[in-house]
Amino acid sequence: MLDGYDLLIPGPTTLDPTVLQEMVRPVVPHYGAAWTAYYQETIGLLKNVFDTSGPVFAIPGSGSAGLDAAISSCIGSKDRLLILANGFFGDRLAEIATSHFPETAIEQLSVDEPITDSRLLDALAKHPAITAVMVVHSESSSGLLNPIESLGALCRERGVTFLVDAISSLGGVELSMDRMNIDVCVSASQKCLEGPPGLGLVAVAPQAWSRMKAYATRGWYLSLQTWQRYADKWADWHPYPITMAVPALRALRRGLERVLDEGLSARWLRHREMAAWLMARTAALGFEGVFPENRASPTVIALRPPEGLSVETVMARLREDHNLLIAGGMGSYKGKAFRIGNMGVQASIARLQPFVDALELIVAQERSERNV
Ligand SMILES: Cc1ncc(COP(=O)(O)O)c(C=O)c1O
Repeated sequence: MLDGYDLLIPGPTTLDPTVLQEMVRPVVPHYGAAWTAYYQETIGLLKNVFDTSGPVFAIPGSGSAGLDAAISSCIGSKDRLLILANGFFGDRLAEIATSHFPETAIEQLSVDEPITDSRLLDALAKHPAITAVMVVHSESSSGLLNPIESLGALCRERGVTFLVDAISSLGGVELSMDRMNIDVCVSASQKCLEGPPGLGLVAVAPQAWSRMKAYATRGWYLSLQTWQRYADKWADWHPYPITMAVPALRALRRGLERVLDEGLSARWLRHREMAAWLMARTAALGFEGVFPENRASPTVIALRPPEGLSVETVMARLREDHNLLIAGGMGSYKGKAFRIGNMGVQASIARLQPFVDALELIVAQERSERNV
C-alpha cells in the first residue's frame, strides 16, 4: 500500500482536508433543481479560472478524456490540424489527433526547446492548409513551459484556431483564454486545481463554439456536441448526458473555491516564487534544473542530481527513508532527471522544506559512503 507517503508528484496532488471531506459525504442524485444550481455554479467557477464566457464541460474521465473530447469535437470536416510536439504529452496529442484525423500534420520539435514563434511560423509555412494548431502549455514530461501567449497571438492574426493542453498549468501558471486567444483549452481536476483525479475539463471560447457546435462528430460520450445538447435540453434538472461523478465534482468545487479565494494572480505568483525558491535551495545542494527559469514550468520542476548520485537512489531514499514520493524523468529524461509537482497545496514551504531537508541528508549520506 502507498498510504502514508507525502505526495510531491506532478499530479495527482496532496489534497486539502476540506477537499477530501467532500468525497466522503453521502452521495446525492446528480440531477434535480438544487444539484443543477450547484453544478452550474461550479461551471461558473471554472469559467473564472479558464477566463472565458464560453461553455465549459466537466467530463468524468481523466485529462486525456478531455483532450480526446476537445480534439474530436472542435476540428471540423474542413479543418486541418497541426500539432507541435516537444515532449511525451505533445506526442500524446499527436496520437489522439491522428486517431481521429489521420491527415493531422505533426511537427516533432526538440524536447529541450520551447515552441517559439519562429517554429510555429516555419510549420505553418510548411503546411499551408492548416486551420488549427494545438500545443501543450506545461510539458509535464520534461518541465518545459511553452509560450502560449505569443503562439495564441500568431494564431489569431492568421485566423487559425488555437487549442491548448493546460492539464498541468491551469490554476498554477498564468493563463487566460480570453486574453491569450485560446479557442479550446483542456485541463483536469487533479493538478493545480486542487481536486481529486476523475474529471477532464474542456473550455471553448464563445466565438469558437458558435462555429463548432454545428460540427458533426463521431462517437457520443466524448462529443462536446452531445454534452451541449443535454446542457440545452435538460438545462434545469440534468445538464449533461451521463451520471455525473458527484464526489469528484464536489471535491473539485471545493478546490476551485480555494483557487479563487486565493486569487489567480496571487496563485500564479506563489507558484513562481516557490519554483524559484526550490531551484535555489536545490542548486545549493548540487542539483541542477533541467531548464533555466525563463523556460521552466513553475508547476513541474525537473532536476538533475549531482555527480555520483543517481535518480534512482534519490527517489528510493526519499521514499524509503523520508516517506516522500516524487516522479522520475520521462522519455529522454528517464534516469537523468526527476520531477516534482510544485502544484496547489504542494507549492508551499510547509511541503517543500522537508523535501529539501531530505535531499540534504541524502547528499551527505552519499558523500560519506563515498568518502568524498
Ligand atoms: C500536460 C499533460 N497532458 C496530458 C496529461 C494526461 O492527463 P491524464 O493522465 O489525466 O489523462 C497529463 C498528465 O500528467 C499532462 O501533464
